[in-house]
Amino acid sequence: MKYKYTSIDEKEILDIYKSDPNFNSWFKIVKKILHSTEFQKRRLFKHHEYESVWTHCIKVSFESYKFAKKYGYNEYNCAIAGLLHDFYTKAWQDSIELTQLDDKYRDYFIHPRKLKLLEKHGFTHPIDALDNSKKYFRNYLNKDIENAIVTHMFPLSLFTKYKLPNNKTSLILTYIDKKMSTGTLISFKCILKYAGIIIQEKEHN
Ligand SMILES: [Fe+2]
Ligand SMILES: [Fe+2]
Repeated sequence: MKYKYTSIDEKEILDIYKSDPNFNSWFKIVKKILHSTEFQKRRLFKHHEYESVWTHCIKVSFESYKFAKKYGYNEYNCAIAGLLHDFYTKAWQDSIELTQLDDKYRDYFIHPRKLKLLEKHGFTHPIDALDNSKKYFRNYLNKDIENAIVTHMFPLSLFTKYKLPNNKTSLILTYIDKKMSTGTLISFKCILKYAGIIIQEKEHN
């Protein structure tokens, strides 16, 4: 399997951030997760229109970390919650790159079925991401990080059992995630897809 940047990402996000004075302290916290085989697979997950999950999660992690550092909140929590908040297993956008991975990651496209609104990606991926984070990176988690992951889609989280963000890490994450996503959701249709109201059709076999 080849993990390299594809048409999804134009630039290596880590190279861009390396010149930032906060890079080294942030990288110390996240590097083992970033280098893990399972997290590296997120380079092949198309997340928003032209960005992978890998790039999106690094952006949210780094920006949340810097926000926490600047305003005196928990830097570690924000770095880890940002990195793992979209560590879901079922890709919501199909792509050629994804076919390099096991079929389980393309479940939505290999086994298409009609989903009820609350079963769609926008509502379910935070819970999927937490379950997957517990499976691979349990030692990095704590109660605040777990709540941040499952409520990052607030206000959609109100329709799940987790309801409201209940701590400062959660509030920072839901804010930074939206801030970083705004520029990549290039149309109203994208927003509906992101929220799980509509889902992308299968692109290929
Ligand atoms: Fe998300
Ligand atoms: Fe996100």
